[in-house]
Amino acid sequence: MRYIGGKSNLLKDIGGLIAQFTSGTNKIIDIFSGSGVVASFLKNLGYEVIGNDALYFAYVLSRGSTALNVIPDFKNLGIKFPLDYLNGLTLETAGFRLEDCFMYQHYSPHDEVISMYFQNDNAIKIDIIRMKIEQWKNAGLINEDEYFYLLAALIAAVPYVSNITGVYGAYLKHWDKRTYNPLRLINPNNICNKGGAVFYNQDCDLLLPTISADVLYADPPYNSRQYLPNYHILETIARYDRPDIHGVTGMRNYGEEHKSAFCSRSGVEMAFKRMIQNANVRYVVISYNSEGLLSKEKLAEICLEFAVKKSFLCREITHRRYNNIGTRAHSVNELLFFFEKA
Ligand SMILES: C[S@@+](CC[C@H](N)C(=O)[O-])C[C@H]1O[C@@H](n2cnc3c(N)ncnc32)[C@H](O)[C@@H]1O
Repeated sequence: MRYIGGKSNLLKDIGGLIAQFTSGTNKIIDIFSGSGVVASFLKNLGYEVIGNDALYFAYVLSRGSTALNVIPDFKNLGIKFPLDYLNGLTLETAGFRLEDCFMYQHYSPHDEVISMYFQNDNAIKIDIIRMKIEQWKNAGLINEDEYFYLLAALIAAVPYVSNITGVYGAYLKHWDKRTYNPLRLINPNNICNKGGAVFYNQDCDLLLPTISADVLYADPPYNSRQYLPNYHILETIARYDRPDIHGVTGMRNYGEEHKSAFCSRSGVEMAFKRMIQNANVRYVVISYNSEGLLSKEKLAEICLEFAVKKSFLCREITHRRYNNIGTRAHSVNELLFFFEKA
């Protein structure tokens, strides 16, 4: 999935750094796992991964794919190809009412609703698939692995039919051509029988003191954009909790407890210090961006405060960022900090 701050282009750099400097490493914490690409990559290399993200939909994506070693067999459900079955459902065959379809009621245009996140048919498909998965779970027809596998397939499919430019902070005012495709669930391609992975859905401050590993990999937000407002639709589909919503975009309400300290200029320094202090690990690897709220020098200073002497290093990976019309470009550095914790 395309994800703000996603590290799909840096996987080799991250893996290379861990392999080069942390010999004997077996267990790695990916404390801000987001789209899950890093955790999935590390598991594929044979590591035991502990992944975590504060967003529920991010947790779902990884719990239903990377956390699994094989595709679940759905023995109890008695349907051999559940993704095909869900793809073929209609309101009538599923036995649900249009009034209960939360995505259709709020995020696709009809009657007085003007929202244009989804074409009507796709909004209804999202609803009936989501409600069917919950119904199977409540009836004891699917186990936890099977539940999250289906949810992950749904969450992964939604961006391909969403009328957005990448995030859900706003919808487009004309229909993008991808929205005319029917929603289609496909098998996640990152289920592998190597290494191991478990995932959590907690604030890093609460989780870190309760777990331990050889390496902490931390890829926190680097600017003031909170993640929840940018992915509110995926969060609501994953939770399907029919939240109170507001504004033109139908944003779910969220409070201070859902705001990340890494996105706050006044809170970010302490957030880093707490994280490093709380981590029961030998090595720390941090991804950050040269345009982040903390300067490279300030973050280096924080790392050095906790580092074994001479163990600290910072690597810079430069790439060009183009402006909207693709003419002028400026350099952006992805930063990788590494140190052994004193
Ligand atoms: C830069 S993204 C991670 C991207 C990920 N490495 C990838 O490649 O997709 C940062 C993530 O941190 C999560 N996050 C922010 N604050 C958090 C906190 N206090 N505890 C746990 N997760 C948090 C956000 O939800 C977001 O998914």
